[in-house]
Amino acid sequence: MRKIMIIGAGDLGRRVCGELAHRDRRWEVRLVGRTEDALQRDVNLIRFSALQQGCRSRVDYALTDLDDVARTAEVIAEFAPDVVFLAASLQSWWVITTLPAERFQRLYAANFGPWLPMHLVPVHKAMRAVRAAGSQAVVVNAAYPDVVHPVLATAGLAPHVGIGNVANNVPALRHSAGTILGTDPADVDVRLVTHHYVSHRLSRTTDISPTQLRIAILAEGRDALPDIGLSRLLKPLTTEYRRTGGMAGQAMTAASAMSVLVPLLEQREAVVHAPGPLGLPGGYPVAVGSGPVRLALPSGMTEQEAVDVNRSGQVEDGVRAIGDDGTVLFEESTMDVMRRELGYDCTTMPLSEAEDRARELGTRFARYRENGSVGRV
Ligand SMILES: NC(=O)c1ccc[n+]([C@@H]2O[C@H](COP(=O)([O-])OP(=O)(O)OC[C@H]3O[C@@H](n4cnc5c(N)ncnc54)[C@H](OP(=O)(O)O)[C@@H]3O)[C@@H](O)[C@H]2O)c1
Repeated sequence: MRKIMIIGAGDLGRRVCGELAHRDRRWEVRLVGRTEDALQRDVNLIRFSALQQGCRSRVDYALTDLDDVARTAEVIAEFAPDVVFLAASLQSWWVITTLPAERFQRLYAANFGPWLPMHLVPVHKAMRAVRAAGSQAVVVNAAYPDVVHPVLATAGLAPHVGIGNVANNVPALRHSAGTILGTDPADVDVRLVTHHYVSHRLSRTTDISPTQLRIAILAEGRDALPDIGLSRLLKPLTTEYRRTGGMAGQAMTAASAMSVLVPLLEQREAVVHAPGPLGLPGGYPVAVGSGPVRLALPSGMTEQEAVDVNRSGQVEDGVRAIGDDGTVLFEESTMDVMRRELGYDCTTMPLSEAEDRARELGTRFARYRENGSVGRV
């Protein structure tokens, strides 16, 4: 029986656990969190509803706090998973959306980069635990892989591949191209290279710089994009192919996660989209499931060209550069917003300081939520 461990029992971890359990397979699925009562009830809901539909996977749970790396290593070693899915975060992307609308809009202008420590810290701890367990599992991470992975790669601790972001728009692109070409979207193959910054915006605005993404639309053996035109392809994503967002929209993220996890569990090759493969910045088409994760770039595109496209998106997201030792330089313009709104000021962050920064961000954000002013720590 193939085994998968999901670490992080929040909204996304539970969704993916449910999706895996509801496949008609005999996988062993273990959901790992830190609050036993909630975890027990969540796992029971998933396994009972799966059994009700005749599904035969085994689903259970284990307890650990990622702050305890040794205990997490024990939990991993004891289960010996083939695949580990990381869905832990100190503050998911949607938390700022729960602010009053006007305050949310002001903070949203900082983009996602400055929140990096909230995603980096738990993944860093989980990866240290994976190594301490001596695990050979393929590690797949949901938490801001576009930036978390290149940072952790500098310490030899990058997960193998991410999920979501670049992938979340691919089905809408297939629909858009299929409609224009008069082809079933299932027969349209897309190759998209772009960073979280752009993938987050594709369904919200047509104001996307062509230098920040590269797309090939493969239909009947050739790239149909020159015939279709980029703006004609993208526009419907903001109109008839908009999808429900927010927490409910995490159904799309869970589907993107499954597009990576299922081929890995079944050990069959699939070309899918994923951020952070091989410790690279941003998102790419990749081949997963048979052998190591590999890039599956649009024909004629080099790895360096793809990385350059992603680096330009990374800067827009608020991360100017990642040093060879993992030190992150943040963009001044986005940090200005954080300074003004939260009183948070971090232009340079060595990996060793990420946890202090996460703690400070958490405290300042809590004050901001309370009284809407600069949070003094
Ligand atoms: N790539 C994408 O397209 C995409 C899309 C959506 C979300 N995401 C990312 O996926 C991640 C998870 O999102 P979510 O919405 O599921 O967030 P969530 O509901 O807040 O879940 C995060 C989980 O992490 C757990 N956690 C935090 N610190 C921990 C620790 N020390 N030990 C054990 N568990 C710990 C939390 O546990 P407690 O419940 O005990 O606090 C919580 O269950 C976030 O980074 C989010 O931004 C990515």
